[in-house]
Amino acid sequence: MNVGIDQIGFYTPNYYLDLRDLAYARHEDPNKYLIGIGQERQAVPPASQDAVTMAANAATQVVTAENRNQISLIIFGTESGVDNSKSGAIYLQQLLGLKREARAFEIKQACYGATAGLQLAKDFVAAHPDRVALVVGSDVARYGLNTPGEVTQGCGAIAMTVSAQPRTLAISPNSSVYSDDIMDFWRPINHTEALVDGHYSNDIYQQFFQKTIQAYCAEQRVSLTDFRALTFHLPYSKLGLKALRTILPEVDESQQQQWLTEFEASRVYNRQVGNLYTGSLYLSLLSLLDHSQELTSGDQIGLFSYGSGAQGEFFAGTLQADFQNYNRRDQIEAALENRQRLDVYQYEEFFTKWPTFKTANVTIDPALDDAEFVFTGVIDNKRQYRRR
Ligand code: CAA
Repeated sequence: MNVGIDQIGFYTPNYYLDLRDLAYARHEDPNKYLIGIGQERQAVPPASQDAVTMAANAATQVVTAENRNQISLIIFGTESGVDNSKSGAIYLQQLLGLKREARAFEIKQACYGATAGLQLAKDFVAAHPDRVALVVGSDVARYGLNTPGEVTQGCGAIAMTVSAQPRTLAISPNSSVYSDDIMDFWRPINHTEALVDGHYSNDIYQQFFQKTIQAYCAEQRVSLTDFRALTFHLPYSKLGLKALRTILPEVDESQQQQWLTEFEASRVYNRQVGNLYTGSLYLSLLSLLDHSQELTSGDQIGLFSYGSGAQGEFFAGTLQADFQNYNRRDQIEAALENRQRLDVYQYEEFFTKWPTFKTANVTIDPALDDAEFVFTGVIDNKRQYRRR
């Protein structure tokens, strides 16, 4: 039985910062950001968008009249959730009007949360092929103004339906995982921004990639050349390229060229949006599906997921007949192109005013936001959401 990703939805807010502008403001060479980090633009959330609203804006694209009643598992991967107790999945269920006869919960393990959700969903659907799972990865990546991590911020959400008739990507039954207690990136409970040992996190990411891809090939008796393309968790796109380069010497020149070409396709969206934390790997997958010139159904894709702290997982997917969706691609490209550019002063104001968990009762005017789902404030310590 094929189980995997049926449909993918993506949402990112309507504002961005051009990283050339940020480079000038931070007295850096723009090429450090454009080439050295591999990012061009960074999505910036208005006060009316948080992990819940972004998830709802992505999920509404994949919940249909056909699958609505089959959705009986809702998994919300995030590391920038809005409540220490109540899960984002319950808010999502309510906002989308999903049926109550469902398991709904949140998963946290840094940027790995959506992959944990996808793997659980795959096993659930394999055991109950008549049901559908909804998995989201939704985050606001915040490192702070004037920090080295600032250039690797961003925000957005990915939503995936997982079914036994996947139209996009069948997921391999097995995967290779590796975890260890690593202090490379963390966010203490009273912090609104992540703490990070940036260069260390890059090293651990590449080590976990090596360990998991090699274990996968050995355990599943497949060769590196069985993968037509490799996709990566991309907190910033250069990091995936660094990981890819570590295995290039193991294949011939034509395979190297093919992987590098597909890698460029897999980072088109990420370069424009920045870091989605949990959604980054799946935005990269979406970018590959929408921009590859070579891939055909039946091709094998390798996926590397990483969450600091740290958890790594390598697994494979097989492209299904309808993996390309030109309508979806046109909509995403139009949405990215139509965003409003913020100057650095405006971005800093958005950043400072964005309501973190420290913000007490407040009213947010969503007038600057054209999204379907918006956050309108906090009353009696209860977050208020609205569908328009
Ligand atoms: N032209 C071209 N390239 C240039 C350049 C120029 N003018 N100037 C510098 N560069 C290159 C550098 O050579 C370097 O390239 P390499 O990495 O290939 O050597 C690159 O630009 C970056 O330069 P620095 O290393 O000097 O940059 P930095 O010290 O300011 O920090 C960073 C970069 C460590 C990525 C920092 O932005 C950071 O800490 N980011 C956050 C941490 C992160 O994203 N880690 C990723 C894994 S952890 C994760 O994903 C989080 C999770 O699970 C939640």
